[in-house]
Amino acid sequence: MLTLDISQLRSFLPQDGLDAYEERLKQAATWISTHTGPGGDFTGWIHYPREYDKEEFARLQAASKKIQQQSQVLVVVGIGGSYLGARAVIELIQSPNYNLKQKDTPDVYFAGNGMSTDALLETIELIGDRDFSVNVISKSGTTTEPAVAFRIFKAMLEKKYGKEGAKDRIYVTTDKAKGALKGLADREGYQEFVVPDAIGGRFSVLTPVGILPIATAGVDVEALMAGAAQAMEELSTPGMDNPVWQYAAARQALYDQGKKIELLVGCEPCFRFFAEWWKQLYGESQGKEHKGLFPASVEFTADLHSMGQYIQEGERLMFETVVQFAPRGNITIPNDPENVDGLNFLSGKSLSFVAQQAMQGIILAHVSGGVPNIRIQMPQISAQSVGYLIYFFELACGLSGHLLQINPFNQPGVEAYKNNMYALLGKPGYEQLRAELEAKFH
Ligand code: PA5
Repeated sequence: MLTLDISQLRSFLPQDGLDAYEERLKQAATWISTHTGPGGDFTGWIHYPREYDKEEFARLQAASKKIQQQSQVLVVVGIGGSYLGARAVIELIQSPNYNLKQKDTPDVYFAGNGMSTDALLETIELIGDRDFSVNVISKSGTTTEPAVAFRIFKAMLEKKYGKEGAKDRIYVTTDKAKGALKGLADREGYQEFVVPDAIGGRFSVLTPVGILPIATAGVDVEALMAGAAQAMEELSTPGMDNPVWQYAAARQALYDQGKKIELLVGCEPCFRFFAEWWKQLYGESQGKEHKGLFPASVEFTADLHSMGQYIQEGERLMFETVVQFAPRGNITIPNDPENVDGLNFLSGKSLSFVAQQAMQGIILAHVSGGVPNIRIQMPQISAQSVGYLIYFFELACGLSGHLLQINPFNQPGVEAYKNNMYALLGKPGYEQLRAELEAKFH
């Protein structure tokens, strides 16, 4: 399903440079698959494509059908790992223009992923007087951004449909036992889905966190899980022939050589949000103890006209990981009898052929400019291939996090801003911190 090409690392790494990481990868793979080692409590995603709760999955599919029948809009309230995966998959498979398309599934709007008043007002305006449902997603159940947005949409639903009617349109995805959202859902009798204990937000796209919105948008979620299960089987073989071991080792080898940035290169506009998901996965997993590659993203060829100069000739800080999918259709470039633009040498050729040649040229130029290149080639975008790619990147993230010798599965740095915000907003229990922060400001 996935082909990894690391041939363009040759001029940057010593011969057999990746083999040096084999023993540490063996250790990392064992830690992850046996739920041991640093962060072992949060490796529930490793066998999830085989072990997920099938009864809950059926309930998710039934809920998505009900939303499709009952509503023209689904509002997905969540932030970080509680929304990026769903948005990434919907945009990649169904299009970033999904909401604009003629379809028999609801529009999906994402809210509660920031503090923008204007964005929230716009979402409310876009819903208009259409029927809508809400899926609020928060593992902790206490994150401020989604909690505030949920208050607003819950009040709107209750105003429009009454308390009982609103209850029939609210779906809560949260911890199985704790958190304010869990308490509210139990009290109000909302339909609930569980974020598994052993899976952190950024690894949760294949759990109910992602599945309910993704299924509501009409994606074949069984095929998505089947793709992930295929990856789980194929990528579990130990050894340096395994592409996920190669990718994890290559990232670390380049980091050890002084590279500071990994640029994820997409070739499709619909890949942009997948890159956002990937950035969270790697940034939040590996940016620790003053270590880690900075995950950035670009889209080729569009961004060659904005970032291409820097990539070719700026600081030699980065390497590229290009992800290419086979096209889902075909466009042939027409002949122009007058050949005004001088492009008749392309007449009759397919646009995808031109794109392939362009990518080849870009890679060679960047490599000769000092930017190592890793290339991932995928078949057409489909639920199956996307499920496979998600699992590939999750596993590579865990493995390469262990090579970096950090705990890839916690996120202590995210708490710092949350605590400051609670203190400054006057949350009870944060008085001492508030006094300390105020002293710093004055
Ligand atoms: O990946 C993570 O752990 C974070 O991005 C969380 O998903 C994010 O902070 C939202 O947290 P919660 O789901 O608890 O509201």
